[in-house]
Amino acid sequence: MKNAVSKQCLLGLLIASSLCSAAISAASLPWMNLSLRPDKRAHLLEAHLTQAQKFRLIRSDYGSTYHGHGMPHGALGSAGYVPGIPSLKVPALQETDAGMGVAKPHPGGEGATSLPSGLASAASWDPKVEFDGGAMIGAEAHAKGFDVLLAGGVDLLREPRNGRNFEYAGEDPLLAGTMVAQAVRGIQSQHVISTVKHYAINDQETGRTTISSELNQAAMRESDLLAFHIVVTEGHPGAVMCSYNRVNGTYACENKLLLDQILKQDWGFRGFVMSDWGGTHSATKAAMAGLDQESAAADFDKQVYFGKPLRAAVADGAVPQSRIDDMVHRILRSMFAVGVFDHPPHKQPIAFATDRQVAQKTEEAGAVLLRNRNGLLPLSVNLHHIVLIGTHADKGVLSGGGSSTVRPSGGNVVQDGRPAQWPGPPMYLPSSPLAAFRRLAPKINVQYDSGANLVTAARAAAKADVAIVFVHQWMAESFDRASLELPNNQNALVEAVAAANPRTIVVLENGGPIAMPWLHKVDAVLEAWYPGAGGGPAIARLLFGMANPSGHLPLSWPVSLSQLPRPKLPAAGYGNKAPPPTTVDYNIEGPDVGYRWYQKRRLNPLFPFGFGLSYTHFAYTHFYAHVHGSGTNMRVVVDFDIRNTGKRSGEAVPQIYGTPPNGDTTRRLVAWTKLSLAPGQNRYVHLVVATRSLAHYDALAHRWQLNSGKYKLEVAHNAMQADAQTALSLSASTPLL
Ligand code: BGC
Repeated sequence: MKNAVSKQCLLGLLIASSLCSAAISAASLPWMNLSLRPDKRAHLLEAHLTQAQKFRLIRSDYGSTYHGHGMPHGALGSAGYVPGIPSLKVPALQETDAGMGVAKPHPGGEGATSLPSGLASAASWDPKVEFDGGAMIGAEAHAKGFDVLLAGGVDLLREPRNGRNFEYAGEDPLLAGTMVAQAVRGIQSQHVISTVKHYAINDQETGRTTISSELNQAAMRESDLLAFHIVVTEGHPGAVMCSYNRVNGTYACENKLLLDQILKQDWGFRGFVMSDWGGTHSATKAAMAGLDQESAAADFDKQVYFGKPLRAAVADGAVPQSRIDDMVHRILRSMFAVGVFDHPPHKQPIAFATDRQVAQKTEEAGAVLLRNRNGLLPLSVNLHHIVLIGTHADKGVLSGGGSSTVRPSGGNVVQDGRPAQWPGPPMYLPSSPLAAFRRLAPKINVQYDSGANLVTAARAAAKADVAIVFVHQWMAESFDRASLELPNNQNALVEAVAAANPRTIVVLENGGPIAMPWLHKVDAVLEAWYPGAGGGPAIARLLFGMANPSGHLPLSWPVSLSQLPRPKLPAAGYGNKAPPPTTVDYNIEGPDVGYRWYQKRRLNPLFPFGFGLSYTHFAYTHFYAHVHGSGTNMRVVVDFDIRNTGKRSGEAVPQIYGTPPNGDTTRRLVAWTKLSLAPGQNRYVHLVVATRSLAHYDALAHRWQLNSGKYKLEVAHNAMQADAQTALSLSASTPLL
């Protein structure tokens, strides 16, 4: 009898899943055989699933309470939940945000450890830092019962006012893609599926659910999509989250070119595509375009498209059953590939002190020293009196807002922030710079002034040997900044302090470039980004020289908005009720994002992409480039010597830029490394050049093409300062995907 039932289950004849499950649980579960490949395991399991079970896998519920309804049974109080099938040993999908750490559940609970912002991690230019950070947040997610992290933000920084830039990795596709791929690998090393998001061209928040990003296909492939391509092929994320916006008129989550053609066919992505929360707009169109899972369908979409409407579409032949099976296969395959079946998450204690160290190291590697006049930094521990001013530096450090915000144990250390509701309140993590200064330099009298009163702040600054002003710019999901200006009269605060004490340092806690009208009046500026759970000690150690700054900007820092491709950003700003524009024209700069735009327009940014000072200096010499092999086997390599010419140990970030032969084109980052050198030390460096960054995409022929001709290669400190250059003749080839 048991066998007969099993057989009917296998044939899909018996839909009563409880009967099937009972029969099968008695039999062996061949998909639990670890020696089989993920695809095989998924296929074995699929054969046992009923249509109802399949349809349950392809949509998630919001994993928390929402608009009056309770938490779904079995959910953990976070972003998404798909119930498991215990009889078949299918674990539930427990999904939580995001790239900096485990964002929910809150309030209450033990909290989680927040990395610094995505921009800070990217500014480390150190893939290992990304991997370690990913592994840390992946392990915390796993220990809290989650098996999906909605992480891997890699939308390119085309718009410095974008409220979510802090979640991403800057403006360059090679840097952003390479770094985020490692974050994804780190997360997934803990048997937690990571997404890469938000696919694609989701480069501003204003009008994000309706706006159409206009960008021609070649430009898209050479810029934003290249970053995603690198993450997909090097990081192997289990899932891709399609974005809210439209791309050339079609919603990203029902865009066949993006999902089916480019992601799945051209790049060979074998995982699943999940929609952003509220990003599904249809059943047939989305399913046939390549969407595999509708997220938080009942709460965020107009209707549960991947429920009744999709079933009806299958019944009337508009969507073949094979598409449903493919969706299911992709979801299960990722679960097997990442180890969700074999290492399902379960609650465990978390080593918060160790994890905070990971966050601190990330900040130490990613903070960027933008200015250091008169050798003011590093500070001596033998000073008598320092004053820290502003941004609650006595209590903690700021985070970015929205779904990615991580709540630390004990909660927000600054209670009265505005807006009080989502995407607020601004979260201050309990990592006090003041406490860290006092701990690291116990002989110095370190005082704090809130900065609320300019006169008092200036008086405090005048009495100190050195004044350190902390300024902040809170940015958050769901809106863009209307300008680059610091809010809350903070420019006046810096001016007042700098006028009272010439030895003034400014520490920035921000989500992207800001205007610094006072720049030439202060001696030093440290870009600390959103500094994360170890921010206080990291900032103190960097300023005292216990850590040597080695971060480099993953973005170009404009002098003013007039330098941007789109100086105006209509309807931007928190609470702006103006109707957002229906389109944003990214064809203006096309693939020339960031430093390429500045070069093309012969503009000098305030700080170029790749810029970052150190307490030592490095020189690059004996720079050579070579070609090995030809056609699809062609490899371009460069080698050079690097020397620490200063008096301190430090980490250098030599950057290789290549310029294609056509006079019309701009330089592109094609390789870099980060390495540590003692004073006077010399090291030989050998790097492989990413030739795809020098190629162009031929949209008619559907392929990448490397033109023949003389390519310029430079070894540089940043996108505008090269130490040496060489030329290399390459023959035409189509070596790339
Ligand atoms: C965000 C996603 C996030 C999701 C779930 C959306 O509003 O755009 O990045 O993962 O919510 O919280």
